[in-house]
Amino acid sequence: MKVLLLGSGGREHAFAWKFNQSKKLEKLFVAPGNAGTAEIAENVNLNPNDFGGIKKFVLDNGINMVVVGPEDPLVNGIHDFFLNDEEIKEIPVIGPEKLGAQLEGSKDFAKEFMFRHNIPTAAYKSITTENLDEGLAFLETMKAPYVLKADGLAAGKGVLIIEDLDEAKNSLKEMLGGMFGDAGNRVVIEEFLSGIELSVFVLTDGKSYRTLAEAKDYKRIGEGDTGLNTGGMGAISPVPFAKGDFMQKVEERVIAPTIEGLQKDKIPYKGFVFIGLMNVEGDPYVIEYNVRMGDPETEVIMPRVKSDLLELMEAVSKQELDQADFEMDSRTVSTVMLVSGGYPEAYEKGKAIKNLEKVEGSIVFHAGTTTSNGDVVTNGGRVISVSSYGDSMKEALTSSFKNAELIDFEGKYYRRDIGFDL
Ligand code: AMP
Ligand code: GLY
Repeated sequence: MKVLLLGSGGREHAFAWKFNQSKKLEKLFVAPGNAGTAEIAENVNLNPNDFGGIKKFVLDNGINMVVVGPEDPLVNGIHDFFLNDEEIKEIPVIGPEKLGAQLEGSKDFAKEFMFRHNIPTAAYKSITTENLDEGLAFLETMKAPYVLKADGLAAGKGVLIIEDLDEAKNSLKEMLGGMFGDAGNRVVIEEFLSGIELSVFVLTDGKSYRTLAEAKDYKRIGEGDTGLNTGGMGAISPVPFAKGDFMQKVEERVIAPTIEGLQKDKIPYKGFVFIGLMNVEGDPYVIEYNVRMGDPETEVIMPRVKSDLLELMEAVSKQELDQADFEMDSRTVSTVMLVSGGYPEAYEKGKAIKNLEKVEGSIVFHAGTTTSNGDVVTNGGRVISVSSYGDSMKEALTSSFKNAELIDFEGKYYRRDIGFDL
């Protein structure tokens, strides 16, 4: 099969690494990719949101499947674009159609979905300028801290958690006034949930599903979970506290009703569901849905998938996932993200990355890299993700930290405390 993978981060390098192990793969293209995907696939200079350009590339190159990494082409309707075009409608796209992508594209849509299907989640109210008074009154009935979420996609920045009631009221008005652009035309006010976060990753063909694994990521820039939010500074899978009893509740109360809910609501869905959870005293609550894999969670989950990923995706496209061979590695995989100095605020690009060839005992996934005059150089905030296997979390992390220290570029920073809380 000839596969076109859309995206350019560590997630896409991890997908590409896994696709490369498939006996069914004839040729892999990644658009636009990075210096890491260039080593194992052919990068294509195409924007994942340029649907017309993607159609032309797919037809010119005889592509048999399109796999979508990031959320925005899905929310923008790339899958629908394929289905509505006679020339490409038979080419499978992995990733939900626009309607299903609303689970990530609209917090309000996701909350309504969860309430409709009795999936445990925080109490909420959905507010626009029309019912602002209701929103202010709702805040008064709640206890601090106050959780305010921009309804639409805001590049992971649209959530505010505020201690003070007056400040929360002001922020609500500011969000509705354009603080996050159109994403904040509607704001979801939520009850605050206290507990430990983790995520679970599910692949579905819309009829049946496979739970790949759970993972925990580390979103804050600073050690001890302090400082600004990032895209993710490291991850671990499996999660030690996610034992049988808790994961059974996740399966019964969250995953199964989610997939059944999609069917009941007639929402077609072929792709990944990334469910962000809070473990509140042993009970799972859904914080959010994403309609794609996580980054850096993919860098710990793909190394644990033992089955042929391309076969699994083919099964998804044919709605035969229940018949596909599926097995996960029981070992732990950890990943540590190397980032550019200054990230998640302003940072410099174009720094030469050294010692990649000296890495032993870890898998290097490129995130923000490119090549310049034959050298691999930094090209983003998150630069390299160092993933390692271990029989325990400690063993996996020891390898990741050792190689994170070895790889070098000017301004390199990484968190040395991934897994500290487990
Ligand atoms: P989201 O974009 O919905 O994942 O929210 C971003 C982050 O805000 C989450 O990863 C949580 O750490 C936090 N968060 C979101 N909703 C809640 C909530 N209801 N209670 C506590 N923390 C929350
Ligand atoms: N690591 C969180 C995300 O991919 O959204």
